[in-house]
Amino acid sequence: MSITPIGEPRHKVTVATLREKKLHGEPVTCLTAYDYATGRLVDEASIDIILVGDSLAQTMLGYENTLTVTLEEMLHHTRAVRRGVKHALLVADMPFGSFQVTADDALRNATRFVKEGGAEAVKMEGGKKRVDLIRRVIDAEIPVAGHIGLTPQSVHLMGGYKVQGKTLTAIEQLMQDAVALDRAGVACLYLEGIPREVAAMITAEVATPTIGIGAGPECDGQVLVFHDIMNLTFGVPAKFVRRYGDAAELIRNAVTAFRSDVLSHRYPSDDESYHLAKDTREALETVLARKQGVRP
Ligand code: KIV
Repeated sequence: MSITPIGEPRHKVTVATLREKKLHGEPVTCLTAYDYATGRLVDEASIDIILVGDSLAQTMLGYENTLTVTLEEMLHHTRAVRRGVKHALLVADMPFGSFQVTADDALRNATRFVKEGGAEAVKMEGGKKRVDLIRRVIDAEIPVAGHIGLTPQSVHLMGGYKVQGKTLTAIEQLMQDAVALDRAGVACLYLEGIPREVAAMITAEVATPTIGIGAGPECDGQVLVFHDIMNLTFGVPAKFVRRYGDAAELIRNAVTAFRSDVLSHRYPSDDESYHLAKDTREALETVLARKQGVRP
């Protein structure tokens, strides 16, 4: 399989494409997107998977963590991204509380992401303890992406956003989680915030493609948060974040320039204004002149 150059016509990415890429050692690329414009731009750049991550709670909605974002909010953003995406596999994140309660909830809500949001797969955080409900959703023909390691929905249980899998016991636990999800048939497995060595072991062990974020270069693919790579977040970035653009600087400069142009009457110019047709303008001048008692 060859890498599609940017701008070339491309095929639709499916769950099968991800497996093929793993088999051929071709990296899988994934970015988050949360609206029509970014979904479209990321898709046009030939990224394989577009994830409507629940990180939108912080990046788009300004919540403190991902726990508060609702199913309706996630659906709203998924629908917007769907309208911009043609080729990438569209994965929607199931928000906290939408699948952890019962398998019935998981299936009902996953179905909503497919039917109402246009998602092609859903992502659920958690390992072995989620396997039964993940199987139930896959049995209903909905592909599921797994997500283990530093799972932000477990922030309170973890006692903060901490790198996971740092002891032999924790490594064993992570490996068991990965194998259980692999056997359940997940479409891919997100590995977040774990040591490179552990991610490499898991990647070698499982058939499903692993997609790392803060999990080192041996994963089968990499994902980053769109707002992180574009400098659209406001805190100190995590160690693994690489900035590829500075949208914050662009926006600040553009907004400042607009304000200054308006204050100094440089915007809008005559060219940026609409005009009356010549005969209407002349008729209007006649009417105005009559009103003022002046002969045109
Ligand atoms: O919500 C998100 O953006 C994610 C990725 C970081 C994997 O879950």
